[in-house]
Amino acid sequence: MHVSRRRLLYGSAGIAATTLAGCGLGEGSEELTGFTGIAMPTTTSDRWVSEGAELEDRLKGFGYKTILAYGEDDVEQQTEQIQSMVDEGVEFLIVGAIDNTSLGPVLANAKNAGITVIAYDRLILETPDVDYYASFDNYEVGVLQARHIIDRLGLEERSGPFNVELFSGALDDNNSQYFFMGGLDTLESYLYSGAVAVPSGQTEQVPTATARWDREVARERMAELLDEHYGERRLHAVLSPYDGISRGVVEALADAGYEPGSDDFPVVTGQDAEPLSLKAIQEGTGQSETVFKDTRQLAEVAANMVKSIVDGGTPDVNDLGSYDNGFKFVPAYLLPPIDVTVENYVEEVVDSGYVSQGTIDDAPEDD
Ligand code: GAL
Repeated sequence: MHVSRRRLLYGSAGIAATTLAGCGLGEGSEELTGFTGIAMPTTTSDRWVSEGAELEDRLKGFGYKTILAYGEDDVEQQTEQIQSMVDEGVEFLIVGAIDNTSLGPVLANAKNAGITVIAYDRLILETPDVDYYASFDNYEVGVLQARHIIDRLGLEERSGPFNVELFSGALDDNNSQYFFMGGLDTLESYLYSGAVAVPSGQTEQVPTATARWDREVARERMAELLDEHYGERRLHAVLSPYDGISRGVVEALADAGYEPGSDDFPVVTGQDAEPLSLKAIQEGTGQSETVFKDTRQLAEVAANMVKSIVDGGTPDVNDLGSYDNGFKFVPAYLLPPIDVTVENYVEEVVDSGYVSQGTIDDAPEDD
């Protein structure tokens, strides 16, 4: 079996493979076949579904075998899936983690088997056993979302005060803090000047978090905030980090009497260019922005990382100092996120072939 062959090559796999894996396996790399396990977090969000398929297509296109599994937001299930990939003898793992801190033990097993681990979009923390990170500039995502609010409210020209509420993503996803920091840093001067107020007082990551990035969790929190803090007040904007959350927020706003499509409907941001959110952007009936991350490129970056190592080289990275996982700065390749509104969604998202106009028009409602 493959693993034992490499154990022979590298002696006791632990130390030798750990050293070799991160730096392009060098001698013996001709033994690699590119067999890759792809562990994705969930099928509840469109992006992960297409990225799993895209990663498989690309790796199979290189002639490599793959195993693809979805953890469905269940940390134990994802851990078991990864362990079974290790047992099957994969040489590479591409992991979109559900919980960024609980994969240490299973990745230690992977490392012992000489496997190269690529953290996919979400950094894996508190383990030395992650070799590369492929993602987007996550801080910039939050910057773009906050800038949209600044533009739409006209904060450069008007002194407000405008009432804004903040949402952040799942606490166990490392990306959440980057999105939130990017957003808060960009709004900071307006918060200090008083042009922006957060009537709930919830300006920290923990109270604003949305477990599992879940739409319903967001809808409930928004409904509570409106109930408790907006009796006499009007809400002007919501910083939302992800389209699913944005749609939950919009639902709560509509239930509370804000009219989607009206001029004074709050500005709501988003991320991921999901078809249903693009439809709302196109029709002006909900969130007015999303951050488009071309996940086809991300899949390409991750698949190419595997190929570089199989070919005996070293993966391309463009960031060595931003992503500290608690053990080390993980060498990363970061792609640029794009701000998308009604003005440019056709050009950026449709014309680029990411989502067809038909898919947007026919996007099924959330259940
Ligand atoms: C994050 C990811 C976002 C969004 C979110 C919910 O980790 O960076 O793009 O997909 O998860 O799935």
